[in-house]
Amino acid sequence: MQIRRNDALMLTLEAIIVEPPIEGEIVDPQSWFDSPGPFELEIGCGKGGFLLARAKARPDVRLLGIEWANKFFKFAADRIARWGVNNVRVMRTDAKPFVMNLLPPKSVTALHLYHPDPWPKKRHHKRRLVQDDFAVAVARVLVPGGRWLIQTDHADYFQHIQEVMSRRREFREESWEVATSETHAGFAGTNYEIKYAKEGRAIYRAAYVRTPSAVVGRALSSDCESQTSNLSL
Ligand SMILES: C[S@@+](CC[C@H](N)C(=O)[O-])C[C@H]1O[C@@H](n2cnc3c(N)ncnc32)[C@H](O)[C@@H]1O
Repeated sequence: MQIRRNDALMLTLEAIIVEPPIEGEIVDPQSWFDSPGPFELEIGCGKGGFLLARAKARPDVRLLGIEWANKFFKFAADRIARWGVNNVRVMRTDAKPFVMNLLPPKSVTALHLYHPDPWPKKRHHKRRLVQDDFAVAVARVLVPGGRWLIQTDHADYFQHIQEVMSRRREFREESWEVATSETHAGFAGTNYEIKYAKEGRAIYRAAYVRTPSAVVGRALSSDCESQTSNLSL
């Protein structure tokens, strides 16, 4: 990944940018970091505002931000590098196949999905990330007790998300305030959130906890449950 900077920063960028895995390769998220810790994923990290805030607030947590738009990916990588936080990695890829096929089961303690593209036209609804198959995949990669936090400014997409999640027995809904109380009560701090809050737009939020009992998804060999002692947010 070529991002022109001076040598010192280039080294940092090389350390924080993770190349997307090749098809069929199951990744080990812990291997991207200097030491093990609870692993959290943000899908569609945009300019990296939340990633950075989260990383600074919780140095014990290991974070990966996935972003497919090159402009935003570069912005986020550069921002993380300039702050010198070492518990964040960024990857430029499509998050859907990454979560569905390449992450090991029980490897993620929290999945952050803030202001996902709403695809407002009806004929484009199938492009929305949150669908039944994706929710099944999220249940597979989350540790028991792990959380899926979702925030959007789009009422129709939020309703769709609630419908999808009402069909999933692998999750129970938790109050957003409880889920986020430790470090960012009621506020994810993303760029879109800040922009829309200024405009006075409504923000819709939901937190889903992976219940311990249900068995879902396809079985994969690796199991990272040992890295998941700290589930709080
Ligand atoms: C509306 S923006 C929100 C950005 C950020 N989360 C925020 O709240 O400021 C949605 C972002 O998700 C990215 N995105 C959408 N679908 C994606 C996918 N399947 N994989 C990776 N990134 C995706 C887009 O490129 C865009 O940057």
